[in-house]
Amino acid sequence: MFASLKSIASFVPSRCVNNFDFEKSIDTTHEWIVERTGIYTRHFAEDKQFTSDLAVEAGKKAIDRAGIKNSDIDMVIVATLSPDFLGMPSTACVVASKLGITDKPAFDISAACTGFIYLLSIAKSFIESGACKNILIIGSEKISSILDFNDRSTCVLFGDGAGAAVIGVTKDKEKSILDVHVSSNGDYANLLYTPIADSKSAVKQCLNMRGNEIFKIAVKTLTNDVEMILNKNNLSSKDILFFIPHQANLRIISAVAERLSFQKEQIVLTVQKYGNTSAASIPMAMNDVYESGKLKNGDLMLLDAFGGGLTWGSALVAFDGIS
Ligand code: UT7
Repeated sequence: MFASLKSIASFVPSRCVNNFDFEKSIDTTHEWIVERTGIYTRHFAEDKQFTSDLAVEAGKKAIDRAGIKNSDIDMVIVATLSPDFLGMPSTACVVASKLGITDKPAFDISAACTGFIYLLSIAKSFIESGACKNILIIGSEKISSILDFNDRSTCVLFGDGAGAAVIGVTKDKEKSILDVHVSSNGDYANLLYTPIADSKSAVKQCLNMRGNEIFKIAVKTLTNDVEMILNKNNLSSKDILFFIPHQANLRIISAVAERLSFQKEQIVLTVQKYGNTSAASIPMAMNDVYESGKLKNGDLMLLDAFGGGLTWGSALVAFDGIS
């Protein structure tokens, strides 16, 4: 018995903000943002629209596309760095309640932009141990709620959104989550972090990032991680139909893809329209392929992410859903 990806879905809030909008409030230009990041637009949630609301919309669609009912879900796990509440209740509990899923385990994980890969590894273990039959995993972010809109080095990079998937059971190894690798190095925690607000020192609870240092580590780590998972599974980049990297920066994706000899047709890109949506970025990109009609049952995807912690991970995932 193997764990497999039964469905994929996403939700993007309707408010779209382009680079020219930022020119009005901070010292930046459309040209700088496009040249350094590849980003043209990003979407921001409304004030009263929370991470759980985005997650619920994506989650509903994922359950529907898996051809099951909400009551068939055995567990809900959410990856987010912008939860509805600080510490508790978990966003997953809020999401489960809004979906009418009760008396089932629900919890959040914190692995920043690598969140969705961590979700896959956790769901795979619960399914393959026989503990669960259907797990709803969701990467959801309202990163706009933790951005400092006066800090030009971070506020132009991120966006809000959610991506969800149902992980179920298959007997066919070829259609399963073939392998997942996740890792971390907390020695680099100071490169990307969100401090807890402190009324005494006026510290703001906003995302802080030393982007340039992360950039260099990201290219090296992502490349090594993909090489490792391909070698371990006796595969090469030619065996992969869709390479779906974390959508942080077009230059990082291009550098990694070039080192690994991925062709243009294999690389999935959404950073230009959504920006960096952290834990939601990979499932949102997968959903783009799915909604374009290109993702067929049995197609092999390679996912690769990197983020705060520092954390990183990769996954070889065949699509086991309805095309
Ligand atoms: O998703 C989690 C992991 N995160 C990442 O992977 C992000 C990795 N890092 C990056 O994507 C890039 O490092 C950034 C896009 C964040 C920055 O690009 P960069 O080429 O590394 O630029 P930089 O940080 O070295 O800054 C170059 C210059 C600086 O000015 P000076 O010191 O050279 O005068 C910055 O102050 O660009 C300036 N700058 C800006 N200028 C215009 C920084 N942000 C902006 C801006 N508009 N928005």
